[in-house]
Amino acid sequence: MPKTPPEKAHVILGIESSCDETSAAIVVDGHEVCANAVASQIELHARFGGVVPEIASRAHIQSINTVIDQAFADANLKPADIDAVAVTHEPGLIGSLLVGLMAGKTFAFVHDVALIGVNHVYAHAYAARLNAEPIDYPAIALICSGGHTALYRCSSPTEMQLLGSTIDDAAGEAFDKIASILQLGYPGGPVVDKAAREGNPQAVDFPRSLLKGQSLDFSFSGLKTAVLYHVNGPPTPPKPRPGRPLPPPPAKRGIEDFSEQEIRDLAASFQEAVVDVMRIKTRRAVQQTGAKTIVLGGGVAANTRLRSAMETLAGKQGCRLRKPEMRFCMDNAAMIAGLGYHYLRRGVCDDYTLAARATVRR
Ligand code: KG4
Ligand code: ZN
Repeated sequence: MPKTPPEKAHVILGIESSCDETSAAIVVDGHEVCANAVASQIELHARFGGVVPEIASRAHIQSINTVIDQAFADANLKPADIDAVAVTHEPGLIGSLLVGLMAGKTFAFVHDVALIGVNHVYAHAYAARLNAEPIDYPAIALICSGGHTALYRCSSPTEMQLLGSTIDDAAGEAFDKIASILQLGYPGGPVVDKAAREGNPQAVDFPRSLLKGQSLDFSFSGLKTAVLYHVNGPPTPPKPRPGRPLPPPPAKRGIEDFSEQEIRDLAASFQEAVVDVMRIKTRRAVQQTGAKTIVLGGGVAANTRLRSAMETLAGKQGCRLRKPEMRFCMDNAAMIAGLGYHYLRRGVCDDYTLAARATVRR
C-alpha cells in the first residue's frame, strides 16, 4: 500500500499586545511552542500601581520588533517558514492592541501569509493545550486575569459560549487593589499569593458575593471594599446620638497598625474568599452543563491556592482539570498562535480591514 505522506506542519507566528506585555511566539500545529518571547512592562507601571494605557502603547511600539526578532532567533526559523500570522485584535487597551495588530498586518502583507485575528480571552482558554495533550471537549473554562473574569462552555477551541462574567472588577484587578491596600507591592497577584502561603485563611470572614439564584456572574467590588474598611475603618465615623455613648474608635486605623502576620492573614483570608467564589461558580457551571473537563486560564490561574482548590473540585465532580504551564497563564503570544492554528485549519482568516476592538459585546 502506498504510504500517505505526513501532512505538512503549520507554523504560525503569534503576536500579543493587548495590555502590558509585548509578545511574539512561533507555534507548530497549534501546540508545539518553538519560541515565546515576552517583553514585560511591569517596571514601567509599578509606581502607578496599575497599567497606564498611554505608557503601555508607547512601550509596545518600542518592543514589538525586538520580540518578533527574538522569537525567530529562539526558534531558529525565518519569516519564509511561517504559514500564517495570528494576532490579538480584541479585547484590550485600544492603543496597545493597535500596535500588535499593525505589526501583524504588516508581517502578513510583506511575507504574503494569512492573517488571523484572535480573541485574547478565548486564547487564555486554549493556553492549557500548549506543549500538552489535546483538551477533551466540551469543557468549562474559567478565565481569570487582570482584565477579565468569565466562565465559558467551550465545545471546541473556537466555539465559546459565555456563561457568566464579572459585573464589576476582574479577579486579578481585585488582587492588585488588595496588594496596594496591604502595601505588598505590584503586581498584586504574585505578592498576595506569596504572603497568603504563611497566613490563616480563616482569620477574617470576608464576604463571598454569589449574586442571585444560580448566577454564573462574578462580583468582587464588595470584597475589595470589605478589605478596605477592615484595614482603614469605615469612611465616615459614626455620628453622636443624644443619650447614647459614642462607640469606641476602631482599634486599628491604617495598615501601619497591622503586624506582618496579621497582613499575611488578611492576604490569605481575601484570597480564600476569591477562590471560594470561583470554586462555587465553576461547580455550578459543571453541574449545569455536564462538562467533564475544567480548563483554567489567565494570570490568576497561576495562583497556588486556586490551582489546588480547582484540582480538588475537579476530583469531586469527576472532571479532568487542565491548567496551563505558569508562563502560559500570563499574557503570551504562544496562546494566540496556538488558537490561530484552529482558525487556519477551518479556513477562517481575515483581511486587512481587521479592526482592533477594546470590548466585545456579550
Ligand atoms: O492574564 P494576565 O497576564 O493579563 C490580563 O489579561 O489581564 O493577568 C494579569 C493578572 C494581574 O492582575 C496579576 O496580579 C494576576 O494576573 N496574577 C495573579 C497571580 N499571578 C498573576 N493573581 C493571583 N495569584 C497569582 N499568583
Ligand atoms: Zn490576558
